[in-house]
Amino acid sequence: MSRLSILAVIFSASAVLAADDPNATARVATYDKEIKPMLDQSCISCHGKDGKKPKAGFNATTLEGLEKGGKEEGKGITWGDPEKSSLYRLAHLGATDRDHDMAMPPKKSKNEPLTTEQLAKLKAWILAK
Ligand code: HEC
Repeated sequence: MSRLSILAVIFSASAVLAADDPNATARVATYDKEIKPMLDQSCISCHGKDGKKPKAGFNATTLEGLEKGGKEEGKGITWGDPEKSSLYRLAHLGATDRDHDMAMPPKKSKNEPLTTEQLAKLKAWILAK
């Protein structure tokens, strides 16, 4: 088999896997319905709204941007591990430790932190993998 056809086999296999993965479908559905609205409200004014340069390189307007994270704090989402997900860690600080340097949204901003209920949803979404 040529190198190109081996690659073709690998790519089509992973496309099938992604399409068949019910978790990936559920993840996107929950993102659209529950996660995106809370981040639109509390976070995106500084993290990517209207194509503006996101603070600290963290774009919270897309699922890809959330997964990737920003410049300093590591991956935005590590599926299955909220503590290794800067998105969750900093939003949690923002809700529970308003004076912390990395609390998100920052204390001086006008944005409301996530509520306890929203944080629980965010955590469950990351844990579900
Ligand atoms: C008023 C503007 C503002 C809002 C609103 C805001 N952030 Fe931030 N965010 C910042 C700034 C500024 C930094 C860089 C902070 C620093 O390095 O000291 C940052 C950094 C971050 C980082 C670290 C990126 C990295 O890896 O360097 C994450 C993650 C993050 N914010 C998540 C959030 C989340 C989640 C929300 C909503 C709950 C939010 N932010 C709301 C301004 C904001």
